[in-house]
Amino acid sequence: MREQGMIAVFDSGMGGLSVLRRLIREMPGEDFLYFGDSANAPYGPRPTEEIRALTLAHGSRLLEEGAKALVVACNTATAAAIDALRSAHPGRIVIGIEPALKPAADRFPGEPVLVMATDATLREQKFAALLERYAKNSPILKCPCPGLVAFVERGELEGERVETHLRQLLGPYLAHKPRAVVLGCTHYPFLEQAIRKVVGEDVVIFDGAEGTARECRRRLEEAGLLRSGGRGSIRLTNSSPDPQTARLAQLLLQK
Ligand code: DGL
Repeated sequence: MREQGMIAVFDSGMGGLSVLRRLIREMPGEDFLYFGDSANAPYGPRPTEEIRALTLAHGSRLLEEGAKALVVACNTATAAAIDALRSAHPGRIVIGIEPALKPAADRFPGEPVLVMATDATLREQKFAALLERYAKNSPILKCPCPGLVAFVERGELEGERVETHLRQLLGPYLAHKPRAVVLGCTHYPFLEQAIRKVVGEDVVIFDGAEGTARECRRRLEEAGLLRSGGRGSIRLTNSSPDPQTARLAQLLLQK
């Protein structure tokens, strides 16, 4: 019975754990299976075709293994492959994440909003459509962040090196005095303290995890598949055989 299936959560590596923690808070009675593709991370610098092939292969396997819903907890994979995944699995619950432009633009109409994301997310049609919807009201500054995911993948979440890297990436955009920063990659919430040091205390930081968790709950409820009550299980898996990867995943989930 599908009510008894798990919710599968997929990301290119560690980033989706920032979404998983919100999903658990939203639906504590559910069983979760997390799969991070750290052996192939980062996805951001890869061509769209490769990102789509990896996402389709991993997503399809998770659905075929009995997931009642699949959450693509990766902005990059969602932008490149969510349509292909949905077409390959009609009738299944397949949820993606996208940069939280809406809450940021709604809160600060007319004021600059800075979006941090991977190169791949920012070049995709999905992001262009989002931009078209919200750039009318607020100037949106697109900030590609090459190299940032690698800090999270090796568990380097604070310190001089990450702050220097962030200053180099964000510096030119901060001159426009953004009121909001959208973390458009699920790895970046783990760097929030370092980002905060660089952008300052007055800037409001948004990410898409909460909206994604609420959407997942709504879809399960609507389909009569939501499990209420009790406490579910959490299983973390990864394509990297390195035991350090498993330890880091546990640590990040508890953050
Ligand atoms: N965590 C992913 C995202 O949300 C991408 C990271 C990567 O480049 O692999 O975009």
